[in-house]
Formats: sequence, structure tokens, C-alpha cells
Amino acid sequence: MKRSFLLLYVLLVHAFYGALCSVGGSLHCEYSNLASLHRPHSVSITEFGAVGDGVTLNTKAFQNALFYPNSFSDKGGAKLFVPAGQWLTGSFDLISHLTLWLDSGATILGSTSSENWPVVDPLPSYGRGRELPGRRHRSLIYGQNLTDVVITGENGTIDGQGSVWWDWFRNGELNYTRPHLVELMNSTGLIISNLTFLNSPFWNIHPVYCRDVVVKNLTILAPLESPNTDGVDPDSSTNVCIEDCYIVTGDDLVSIKSGWDEYGISYARPSSKIKINRLTGQTTSSSGIAIGSEMSGGVSEIYIKDLHLFNSNTGIRIKTSPGRGGYVRNVHILNEAR
Ligand SMILES: *[C@@H]1O[C@H](CO)[C@@H](O)[C@H](O)[C@H]1NC(C)=O
Ligand SMILES: *[C@@H]1O[C@H](CO)[C@@H](O)[C@H](O)[C@H]1NC(C)=O
Ligand SMILES: *[C@@H]1O[C@H](CO)[C@@H](O)[C@H](O)[C@H]1NC(C)=O
Ligand SMILES: *[C@@H]1O[C@H](CO)[C@@H](O)[C@H](O)[C@H]1NC(C)=O
Ligand SMILES: *[C@@H]1O[C@H](CO)[C@@H](O)[C@H](O)[C@H]1NC(C)=O
Ligand SMILES: *[C@@H]1O[C@H](CO)[C@@H](O)[C@H](O)[C@H]1NC(C)=O
Repeated sequence: MKRSFLLLYVLLVHAFYGALCSVGGSLHCEYSNLASLHRPHSVSITEFGAVGDGVTLNTKAFQNALFYPNSFSDKGGAKLFVPAGQWLTGSFDLISHLTLWLDSGATILGSTSSENWPVVDPLPSYGRGRELPGRRHRSLIYGQNLTDVVITGENGTIDGQGSVWWDWFRNGELNYTRPHLVELMNSTGLIISNLTFLNSPFWNIHPVYCRDVVVKNLTILAPLESPNTDGVDPDSSTNVCIEDCYIVTGDDLVSIKSGWDEYGISYARPSSKIKINRLTGQTTSSSGIAIGSEMSGGVSEIYIKDLHLFNSNTGIRIKTSPGRGGYVRNVHILNEAR
């Protein structure tokens, strides 16, 4: 009995590492831009008139501050330093070769007025807003067509103050699909690490059409009953590594996606080479790791290692729907820490 268990274990481990090697990977996150954790230039948000009193709206300060490091893009990039304080803001746009640094005690607070979250087109692989036909609110921290972006710090916090959005959703008062906390689109070389995410209006972290993404050492929290507050949703993205995260939310902790129905099928952008290592957390309504339900572009090469869930609904769930198309292939699951 014991021996056959051991044999099975050895076979599983062998299959796991074998499959991992065949895609040319290691078990841990590999960084395409690790050197970017140390930027040669730095500027503070306070130099742009930002006020960290939790009341002053700092959208313009963030946007102006993010224009400035542009001049360092060919000189190793720059760091935008956010010191301790409560920095209220609407949605703002990142640039390439940037580190957004949230110091210890720094909180970026999402505005509770929907007009501070501009409305943008639906994603081509979804064809319409996820919740309502038509457009959608842009994420609090947004980026498109970027390379080499780091969002990190000393356990600073990004707080979406999502309860107003959850109420609008429950009362049918939304005009557009709810926004994520961080969405990076068509971007490469991304690191999101060493921070806390709280109370996202919708999903927390959404890399879509991205490549080479590391999400490491995050705490992501939202009430267990909050609607659709997924932790990390790699969507039509390749080479994404999620490691050492603690996630307790109202929906899937990690959800791997690749577009929706006919739009996802025709956009045909799969998610592949997704590693999830040492994920700990709780979800009473959903799954530790979900694949789908939007997986119309296909999902493959998934490596899940050391998933620790407590008082949760489902461990790992592969979700599809009739007519959704796509495929789910080569999902490897291993528990090494016993
Ligand atoms: C993605 O970003 C690259 C580099 O910035 C750009 O050349 C390309 O047109 C973008 N593609 C889409 C579909 O946005
Ligand atoms: C990203 O690239 C696409 C395709 O080239 C372009 O349509 C879009 O405006 C670009 N977005 C930004 C913010 O530069
Ligand atoms: C995780 O992040 C915290 C700050 O949020 C930091 O103190 C700690 O050293 C980090 N751990 C690792 C392994 O990087
Ligand atoms: C970071 O802050 C969160 C929220 O305050 C806390 O739960 C977590 O333990 C902290 N992490 C570290 C490494 O200090
Ligand atoms: C929806 O639109 C109405 C009419 O413009 C507006 O009064 C309301 O505040 C909007 N709701 C949200 C959640 O933005
Ligand atoms: C996280 O923080 C630790 C402790 O400060 C640091 O050593 C590490 O490089 C950071 N990791 C990332 C990926 O930001």
C-alpha cells in the first residue's frame, strides 16, 4: 500500500518535472526584467502636488508624475515613489520601464465616484462588457502596449474601495461592466510583487494579451461574499508565474482565461505556460484555481504546485460551457509540501 503510493508519487513527480522541462522551464518564477527592481532614477508623487490625506483626488498628480519618468526610458527607467499616506485617485495609465513603488504605509485608494473610472471599449476577445452589453470601466491602474513594468514596494496597499461597486452591481445600478484593480493589456516583462490588494470592484489583477508576467508575494483580500472579486486572472497570456500569494476573496483565487464564446474563438489568443506555486487561501463560493469559464481561445501547459486551501468550495475546477469552443490541455498538478 505504502510502496504503491510512493511509486505513484514518484511517477507523478517525474511526469511533472518532465513536462516542465519539455517546455524549457524551471519550477520557480523566471524574471525577464529582474534588474528593473533597481531603477537608477526616482521621483516622488509629492513632487507633483499629490496630497495623501485620503480626501484629495490625485488622478492628475499620478498622470503628471507618470509622464516625467518617460525621459528615463532609455536610461534604465525610473521609479515613481509613493510614500506613506492615503492617496485617493481615479484610474491612471502606466508607462514602459517604470517601477511604481508603494512604500510601507502607502495606500492607493480607488475613488468611490464612478466618473473617475473612465469608460473604454470591451476587449476584442470578449466582444462586449462582461456584465452588461457595451463598454466597461477602465481599471484603477491601467497599461497598454508596455514593456518592463514593476508594481511593488514594502507591503504598500492598493485598495479599490469596492463596496460601492458591489452595491451598484447587486442593485442593478451599473451602466457599464465593473473595473478591475490592475489591468495590463498587450504588455511584456511585468512584475507585481510584495504588496497588498484590498476590495477590488471586480477582478484584482488582469494581465490580458501579455507575456512574461511574474506575480509574487502578494496578499489579496476581499470579503468572502463580495461578487466576482477574483484574485489573479491571466487571460490570453503566455508565460505567467504566480508564486507565494495569499488570497482570500469572494470568487476564484486564480482564474485562467482566454476570451469568450465567438469573440474568443475568432480572436484565438490562448493562455499557455502558466505556473502557480505555493498559493494559499480561501474562497467559500468558488475555486482555488479555475480554468475558464471563458476559455474560448484555449488553455494549455498549466503547472500547479503546492496549493493550500482552507474552508473552501472547490480546489481546482475546469469550467466550460456548451458552445464555448477552445480546449484545455496539459494541466499538471503536484503537492510537494507534505
Ligand atoms: C501591442 O503592442 C505593440 C508594442 O507596443 C504594438 O506594436 C502592437 O500594435 C500592439 N498590438 C495590439 C493588438 O494592441
Ligand atoms: C496600442 O497599440 C494599438 C495597436 O497598434 C493601438 O491601436 C492603441 O492605440 C495602442 N494603445 C496605446 C495606449 O498606445
Ligand atoms: C514579501 O513581501 C514583504 C512585504 O510585503 C517582505 O517583507 C518580504 O520580505 C517578502 N518576502 C519575500 C520572500 O520576498
Ligand atoms: C502586509 O499587509 C497585510 C495587510 O495589512 C497583512 O495581512 C500582511 O500580513 C502583511 N504582510 C507582510 C509580509 O508584512
Ligand atoms: C448610471 O447613469 C446614471 C445616469 O447618468 C447616473 O445617475 C448614475 O450615477 C450612473 N451609475 C453609476 C454606477 O455610475
Ligand atoms: C520583495 O521584497 C524582498 C524584501 O525586501 C526583496 O528581497 C525582494 O527582491 C522583493 N521581490 C520582488 C520580486 O519584488
